[in-house]
Amino acid sequence: MNNYDQLKETVQKIKDSLSIVDVISSYISVKKAGRNYSALCPFHPEDTPSFYVFAETNTYHCFGCGAHGDAINFVKEYEKVSYVQAVKKLAAQSGIQIELEERPEIPELRLNREVAVAYSDTLMNLPDSSEIWKYLKNRSIDRQAAKEFELGFSTGKEVMQVINKSDFKVELAIRNGLYNQNREFFNNRLIIPIRDNNGDLSGFSARSIDGSSPKYLNTPETQYFKKGKILYLYHKTKNYIKQNDFAIIVEGYFDAISMYRAGFKNVAAVLGSVLTKEHAFELMKSTNKIITMFDSDEAGRKATLSSIDNLCAKGFQIAVAKYDEKDPDELVRSNQNKYIAELLKKSYKFHEYIPHAYVSRYDIQNDFGLEEYLKEMSVWYKKFTESKRFEILDTFISTIAQITKKRDEIIEEIIKSKIQTLNFKADSIIQNQQKHQNLEKEIRYDFDRSIIYLWLKYDDYKEKLNELDSGAIDEGPAKEFLRFVNEGKNITQILENGSVQLCEMISQIYLIDSFFEPGKIYDALKMTFERKTFQKHIDSLKNKLKGTVDEEERAKIALEIINCISKQKSLGGK
Ligand code: UTP
Ligand code: MN
Repeated sequence: MNNYDQLKETVQKIKDSLSIVDVISSYISVKKAGRNYSALCPFHPEDTPSFYVFAETNTYHCFGCGAHGDAINFVKEYEKVSYVQAVKKLAAQSGIQIELEERPEIPELRLNREVAVAYSDTLMNLPDSSEIWKYLKNRSIDRQAAKEFELGFSTGKEVMQVINKSDFKVELAIRNGLYNQNREFFNNRLIIPIRDNNGDLSGFSARSIDGSSPKYLNTPETQYFKKGKILYLYHKTKNYIKQNDFAIIVEGYFDAISMYRAGFKNVAAVLGSVLTKEHAFELMKSTNKIITMFDSDEAGRKATLSSIDNLCAKGFQIAVAKYDEKDPDELVRSNQNKYIAELLKKSYKFHEYIPHAYVSRYDIQNDFGLEEYLKEMSVWYKKFTESKRFEILDTFISTIAQITKKRDEIIEEIIKSKIQTLNFKADSIIQNQQKHQNLEKEIRYDFDRSIIYLWLKYDDYKEKLNELDSGAIDEGPAKEFLRFVNEGKNITQILENGSVQLCEMISQIYLIDSFFEPGKIYDALKMTFERKTFQKHIDSLKNKLKGTVDEEERAKIALEIINCISKQKSLGGK
């Protein structure tokens, strides 16, 4: 027998020698209930007992929060000590000798943990009148909730404070992504500590509260912080997930926090990405049922599809909850729990969701549009068969048939023939999505294209475009386009009179049949306009500087230039 087996046997002996009823009743009061004992659960607030102790199996279980385990687990959870410490404690009670060494905490994780405490202290020491507390209050987070989710605030000094009063080296802070080029990475931000799926504090996210960019600044990927593996809050919610036998997966930290606080505790959030196969591996230990509630915008829709793509081969039952609000945070804000519970119940099974999710991208009234649409559906069909999800194929087909108002048999035939004639690459779903994304970027990050796109595709934006300061635009297709528009010319007239470059751009954009979010494109555009306006101003100041000899006057102008440049920098944009 090796050392490990010996230890295991000793631990078992300790457990067998103690009655769990005795152990637990030394901490809380328990009442006899039939053959077992019941109590108010010490792990979650409740008015009627749903915590049971089973003498026969030497275990406890809470039907309210899912807490579950043996005497060691109970001591560990109740006293908030390590497993080793709990065993030692019970060993002493039972009089059995055991040699156990505590595994030392990994320094990286210990540093993060202590820094999180420092951030939390900073937050708790700030008065209600501070900007951060005004911000949190607005989001309905009070001091108790901030404590529960370990929220903090960074003033850019906390990491050094921790280092100065302990044996940590700055290099470790650098390695953890907390410190860099003589500055703390997080400053003037709300801190959201992120525990990995085991509960170790592996990284942070920090939200700007003054509108500065980026909205969330995250710990860079480290050995311990792997975004594709971690689910935010999962360490805290996996018991609820097990107990409910489904997980609600959301996109953002605040979505998870709000759902949890509303009582939907079987929730976890991806870290601004999609569900990966690694997430699936984690979730599988708790459940095989998932309801996704990603944001209701285009990005959320894409994230939903990619998540289904990643998880369907793993046999998960995935459903998609649809709602009108922007994200679960707002859903909770403006609705009763009953409504949300109903919405979860009504969520779409993935094989019904997918046919609906693509409809808006194609004009299926038109034969060519329908063909493209069915092509997309056959990619998924192939995927489902390759993943051996035969049980859902019938429903998948009949959902498409309903949408397209064709018979099931016809749809099945078309899809099967498409699979045969088109030689799909295995990952063409991803590729299609990539193509769509690239096209969207080509529009959003191209000044001329984004103006013309908005004008051609969205009537609502015509007026807004007119309000922008066209004096700031450089000569180019967009300027030419707006000039024609101002002259009252329509598209055919513009095509007749425009430059080759403009006409090409118009025809390229005119043919795009995908939907991109106009709001985001407009926001990016507006930012660029502001930048350009600043640039014009800076240029004129520079000219003025050239023509000025008086030193005092020159210094004044120089200062104004510096101010402008720094304002321009804080704008972002392209
Ligand atoms: P959202 O922009 O939808 O965030 O990004 P949110 O949760 O609704 O944020 P609030 O409510 O405005 O505070 C969703 C997730 O994407 C990641 C974060 O994980 C965020 O929770 N994200 C977003 C980043 O990592 N960086 C960003 O700049 C923005
Ligand atoms: Mn939000």
